[in-house]
Amino acid sequence: MEKKLIAPSILSANFNNLGADIKMLNESEADWIHFDVMDGIFVPNISFGIPVIDHIAQITPKPLDVHLMIVDPDKFIVPFAQAGASIITVHYEACVHLHRTVACIKEQGKKASVCLNPHSPVSLLENIITDVDMVLLMSVNPGFGGQKFIEGTYNKLTQLKHLIENKNPNCLIEVDGGVNYQTGARLFALGANVLVAGNFVFSSDSPQETIRNLKNL
Ligand code: DX5
Ligand code: ZN
Repeated sequence: MEKKLIAPSILSANFNNLGADIKMLNESEADWIHFDVMDGIFVPNISFGIPVIDHIAQITPKPLDVHLMIVDPDKFIVPFAQAGASIITVHYEACVHLHRTVACIKEQGKKASVCLNPHSPVSLLENIITDVDMVLLMSVNPGFGGQKFIEGTYNKLTQLKHLIENKNPNCLIEVDGGVNYQTGARLFALGANVLVAGNFVFSSDSPQETIRNLKNL
């Protein structure tokens, strides 16, 4: 059976009481915690960075899934690894020397993941797919939580699944943006392994129940 993992994004958590939300996630069935790091250059928004991840790493046993929406991520691989990231995702669109960046993440003993924006075709990954542990497909334009799911993601997921089955069957597929029960069920059915969910989890009456329901889709 395919892995079905849920990675709540703390971008939609309550920043006035982040510790309480992390405790809630610790006691939930969330598999990973997703961190959306934004620099105001690669994406039109600024979120949080290394100190926040470093502090949260001290209060959770869950793997930290760090999504870098920043230009020139090479500069920050080591600090994010040292802060406690387990999985580090860089954007294809932000990396001029992607092979080197992926190698750098692995040298830190971390899982290396590459992300595609909605407009970037899956074929761009043909020469890097054997080197990565995960591919992250953006199903919204990165920068903000709570956006509408882009339908073209389903086709890209099917194409990516073929590529992975042929070239690197152990590679995971994560999808990020606009995940809810409807989109999530279809994504898992098409072979996604990890779903990121921010707004849908944190705006629900019971985030823990929502996480459990997403896992059981
Ligand atoms: C968007 C981020 C997503 C976002 C999740 O830039 O990468 O992780 O927080 O989106 P929603 O809120 O749609 O689940
Ligand atoms: Zn993300």
